[in-house]
Amino acid sequence: MKLAVAGAGFVGLVHAAVMANQENQVVLFDVNERRIDDLNDFCAGVTDKLPIHEPGLPELIKSAQKKNTLFFTTDADKAIQEATVIFICVGTPPNEQGKADLKYVDSVAHNIGKVLQQSPGYKLIVNKSTVPVGTAKRVRKIVSQYYQGEFDVASNPETLAEGRAVRDASMPTRIIVGVDSTKARKIFHELYARFFLPQQEKIYFMSPESGELTKYACNTYLASQVVLTNIFANTAKQVGANWRDMVPAILDDVRIGKFVHPGPGFGGSCFSKDLAQLYHTIREHGGDEFDYTVLETVLAQNEHQKLKIMHDIEKAYKGDFAGKKIAVWGLSFKRDTNDIRDAASLKLIPHLLNLGCTVHLHDPEAMEEFIKEMEHDHADLTNALFFTDKYEAIKGCDGLLILNDWKTYKQPDFNTLREALQRKVIFDGKDLLEYASVKDEGDFEYYSIGRPDIVNVKP
Ligand code: NAI
Repeated sequence: MKLAVAGAGFVGLVHAAVMANQENQVVLFDVNERRIDDLNDFCAGVTDKLPIHEPGLPELIKSAQKKNTLFFTTDADKAIQEATVIFICVGTPPNEQGKADLKYVDSVAHNIGKVLQQSPGYKLIVNKSTVPVGTAKRVRKIVSQYYQGEFDVASNPETLAEGRAVRDASMPTRIIVGVDSTKARKIFHELYARFFLPQQEKIYFMSPESGELTKYACNTYLASQVVLTNIFANTAKQVGANWRDMVPAILDDVRIGKFVHPGPGFGGSCFSKDLAQLYHTIREHGGDEFDYTVLETVLAQNEHQKLKIMHDIEKAYKGDFAGKKIAVWGLSFKRDTNDIRDAASLKLIPHLLNLGCTVHLHDPEAMEEFIKEMEHDHADLTNALFFTDKYEAIKGCDGLLILNDWKTYKQPDFNTLREALQRKVIFDGKDLLEYASVKDEGDFEYYSIGRPDIVNVKP
């Protein structure tokens, strides 16, 4: 396939060299003439040094050169014109406020638009640079100023790490592709499937916004892990423990790095109290403020998260709660237990009652515990009704709120919901329901934690 790559930095140069060794014709262009001259000098044997150091890169470029599949130029117009796919790999440095400066991305987008205006034809424009959510839309808007014909804009964030960039790009563990069109997905498949063994393809297709955010999510998970590691190493030293001895036992906890299910915060008897104790341990041992305040932030976010779904409830009812009847499924902090300690229900339900709602509550095991806890807190339960049948609970309600993940809630009978609910709106505080199934039903409004709202449904 004919590819153009914009930006001969770490990402662009490595990507161009890798793709040129995979039966593609690649033209790498850059506004930095010196950089292009250096690359052409390297190819001509004038120098044996590349402008960037990456193990394996010189060999990869030489190999592509032999195949006649990799060219370096400052002639962006020609490169764009001849390519079907254009990878944008320019820098996105932070500006003074720490926001990504998109001027280089914009400049390539204008360039592409102008070329398309002169020579129309389908192009797949790919943001490989790390760009904020919304940049695919932004690039589309810029190109559309010049060209109204068919083109796609995708997010395909690079995941290589410097120092092992060639290995990462030649043997990727996964490829992230955010794009909506089927045509573009096929092209990506053609480009990237060869990097994987058959049946073991790891090309993750999603929307452009999801693709853009995935890159930031991965980096933030990793950055947070580095921070947590350092906090524990600091604390270990402070309290006379040995971090290295602890590591294997920590890594054998199968939940770490694997539990990625969003919901109304963590609950139960352990996490909050253990994090709170650790906060004190670090402080009492003279630990650094930066180390223990992270824990404070984690706990504060978790408390806030318990009420997060309220934004959606408010949105759906336009802030008018008077006389609203809401069914709530799930009182314990998670399925298969009657433990309601620290459960989101203890915070959310009094909140709904205070707003003037009536709540119809159901939980397979935790209702007694819930009542006990509420009575202990002197909560007024006049407008809280308790049901032993989950479908009885929703009768005549203005909406259903799901707060935990009992198996019985996972695949509700939509026909029963349809008949019983006064208003067909589901607030899924646990992201429990299958998104596509709800969407397919066609007439349920649906609000969840980590997925787009389903609104404007047929009545
Ligand atoms: P870089 O700064 O090394 O290279 C960017 C290149 O783009 C420069 O050579 C510059 O002259 C060129 N450029 C600027 N405007 C241009 C234009 N209009 N047309 C053509 N070329 C133009 O940047 P690097 O490190 O390669 O990063 C690129 C992007 O990839 C950034 O968004 C970065 O965050 C992301 N990224 C970087 C990784 C890394 O390890 N360096 C890893 C993963 C993503």
